[in-house]
Amino acid sequence: MDWGLKNRLSRIIKPTTGRTVMLAVDHGYFLGPTSGLEVPSKTIRPLLRFADSLMLTRGVLRTSVPPDFDIPIVLRVSGGTSILSKDLSNEGITTSIKEAVRLNACAVALSIFVGSEHEKETLLALSELVNQAEEYGIAVLAVTAVGREMERDAKYLSLCCRIAAELGAHFVKTYYCEEFEKVVETCPVPVVIAGGKKIPEKEALQLAYNAVQKGAAGVDMGRNIFQSEDPVAMIQAVRAVVHKNASVEEAYEIFKKKKKEK
Ligand code: 5RP
Repeated sequence: MDWGLKNRLSRIIKPTTGRTVMLAVDHGYFLGPTSGLEVPSKTIRPLLRFADSLMLTRGVLRTSVPPDFDIPIVLRVSGGTSILSKDLSNEGITTSIKEAVRLNACAVALSIFVGSEHEKETLLALSELVNQAEEYGIAVLAVTAVGREMERDAKYLSLCCRIAAELGAHFVKTYYCEEFEKVVETCPVPVVIAGGKKIPEKEALQLAYNAVQKGAAGVDMGRNIFQSEDPVAMIQAVRAVVHKNASVEEAYEIFKKKKKEK
């Protein structure tokens, strides 16, 4: 790994803790104006100072994030489907590496759909993205997207994460599952977890806690932050779990306290 790539990755995964709180706000790329992200700038701005990086598309980056705010960007560069598509796995690369460089991205993100109809195309797209991104020292995040019919268990998620790493991804985003430690152990690059659909705050903190205790390098969390009854309080509670090893009880107290302060 060259110096530039290591430097970009270390802006996302903080060397002091080896962990990261990534804020995922890329959902609109196939969901449109999803709940909590109807007006991206309103959602994103108050959260910016608490996030270690921002995962989003170029459209939302250009329109909704101040260019003078110093935050590492993880640019989603896959897409081409919508929630109305028959097959969500039919994604391609939407954004060039030159554009990622122009936008000063630290990493680019692409979904792979292992076991789906378009498995091969998405895996080859990941390989090609790694080839291109490495030329510029940009890191690649593989997102192990799960089809409606896929079982999110350790056996399947280990398969997805390991394939992503073998093809050259520098870090991987996946889901938390029972025996998550097996997913982390068998993946030679850092693994971060998605939050998944909105659940009560304390349960989402438990999810983050379990993941980091079992070896995750942190979270790339979206809905459980921006759909929270208090997103700013929630992201601070998640930070305590990820960077300070706070217990679920301690983090939930932080959530309640920050919420009350308002
Ligand atoms: C889908 C994605 C998302 O759009 C998003 O980043 C997921 O985050 P969360 O599940 O925490 O809302 O990566 O594959």
